Amino acid sequence: MSETHFGFQQVEEAQKSRRVRGVFDSVASKYDLMNDLMSMGMHRAWKAYAVAVANVREGDRVLDIAGGTGDLARAFAKRVGPQGCVVHTDINEAMLRRGRERLEDEGLIVPSLLADAQVLPFGDAVFDVVSVAFGLRNMTRKEAALAEMARVLKPGGRLLVLEFSKVAAPLAPAYDWYSFNVLPRLGQWIAGDAKSYRYLAESIRMHPDQATLKSMMKAAGFAHVDVHDLGAGVVALHSGIRC
Ligand SMILES: C[S@@+](CC[C@H](N)C(=O)[O-])C[C@H]1O[C@@H](n2cnc3c(N)ncnc32)[C@H](O)[C@@H]1O
Repeated sequence: MSETHFGFQQVEEAQKSRRVRGVFDSVASKYDLMNDLMSMGMHRAWKAYAVAVANVREGDRVLDIAGGTGDLARAFAKRVGPQGCVVHTDINEAMLRRGRERLEDEGLIVPSLLADAQVLPFGDAVFDVVSVAFGLRNMTRKEAALAEMARVLKPGGRLLVLEFSKVAAPLAPAYDWYSFNVLPRLGQWIAGDAKSYRYLAESIRMHPDQATLKSMMKAAGFAHVDVHDLGAGVVALHSGIRC
């Protein structure tokens, strides 16, 4: 069995999937509140930016991967109109359930499906747009997930990867202090779980930086990969067109 990282720890691949599941089982009920507190509401602007770049049109078919509590699926569902379709997916039942409830509360009928991004249960060339927000970092086999995203997109379709990335060097000390001191305490206080938020800080440091992710997307079959740094690189949006 090959090894990978879970935050700063070296673990077996199967153990990483189990532990990532444990993180999201634990934080699901407080996930949205924690997102607002940790990012001081900025995650809303980052997601709105991703939705604007996606340029989804009426009638489009959109797949949101690692969709969690449904922020992107909700925004896309309002744009595709009655002829289009958005599919909201996640590997974690607790996160998916919360997303489904939120979408239903807003009167949006969006299919919600339990799915592992590394083996997507869809045919080839089905979607016009595929999105993954703050999900890729948690996947064990990122190359396999990107290859699956390419496979299910129509040629000319667009992939959007919104993810934490490499912050600009002058901000790194302050950002590190915030990540390793404030986040776990906030996690303990609000969600009763410091460990999951320490994992969040560690997993961000282990995630490929902007240039590396761009090369990975190109290797998976995407052309014209644009990188948009948001918040001085705290987050980056990678947008690629399926060749
Ligand atoms: C930080 S949450 C992001 C949720 C949502 N996209 C957002 O931006 O608020 C990360 C999500 O990735 C999901 N995830 C982790 N590994 C996955 C995989 N292999 N396939 C699909 N989803 C996965 C987790 O279950 C979790 O819901």
